[in-house]
Amino acid sequence: MDTRIVVEPTGGALGAEICDVTLSADLSDTIFDQIVAALAEHLVLRFPNHHLAEDDLVSFSARFGQLDMAPIRPSGLPASGLRREINVLSNIMANGGPVGGLGNSELVWHQDMTYKPLPPKASLLYAIEVPETGGETHFYNLCAAYETLPAALRVRIENLSCKHDATRNSAGQLRAGFDAAYSNSDRPGAVHPLVVRHPVTGKRSLYLGRRPNAWVVGLSDTESDQLLDDLWGHVESGDACYAHAWEVGDLVIWDNRFTLHRRGTLDPQQRRLMYRTQVRDTEPPMAA
Ligand code: OGA
Ligand code: MN
Repeated sequence: MDTRIVVEPTGGALGAEICDVTLSADLSDTIFDQIVAALAEHLVLRFPNHHLAEDDLVSFSARFGQLDMAPIRPSGLPASGLRREINVLSNIMANGGPVGGLGNSELVWHQDMTYKPLPPKASLLYAIEVPETGGETHFYNLCAAYETLPAALRVRIENLSCKHDATRNSAGQLRAGFDAAYSNSDRPGAVHPLVVRHPVTGKRSLYLGRRPNAWVVGLSDTESDQLLDDLWGHVESGDACYAHAWEVGDLVIWDNRFTLHRRGTLDPQQRRLMYRTQVRDTEPPMAA
């Protein structure tokens, strides 16, 4: 059997496709190590055309590290027997309730759960039902965003940290148990460096989380907003991104430390059902 996998870069600023691997328990360490290396290089990997049972998805995901358990599910979920590691994202309604999280919302650029002291290292998303149009997931290369920063901005953010807001999700909805109004210094969330380093490639990267309610620690609200607007303006005006249009059976893994992602608009008439797992990191983001 072939012991080298073929990694086809998307041709964009990040992302690659890996075909011809069977994502089952007998995937060898030799192959798996190449997948890990490809992820470090390309930051997003697509494995097309798989038929993964829940156990397959969980056991492949768990080779990247310890998995988080999914948050408590919304009511109405039919698949009560689902593995606890699987988070359902869907716009489908059943039994009077949503089948999964995030519904039809358009999402802002974000990294997953950077409001925690130890954010996930990677997320995996497996497509079970996909809309014919829309519902793409966009990815952004934060190492490239750092590399192309104007020099003055690069100097400005060196040694600065940002507080990542815990109170709202990536659709902008207030999470249960939080107030709508906090001052920047009181707002619940975790503080991480604005510039981090990739432990494998050594590349420096921006570490932004998401824009709403972010605060550069120690700056006045006005100064912080100005600096964050400059950084996000740089991201928004750049083109270090790649849009993934889903097909049923796609498994996509992204490095959550060095990429942003967002979902585009979804047509509520078109069903979308995804299973997600999340891989814990072993250390917090490393200041560069
Ligand atoms: C996620 C997420 C986007 C999507 O799984 O964290 O943001 O396209 N998903 O479903
Ligand atoms: Mn997300």
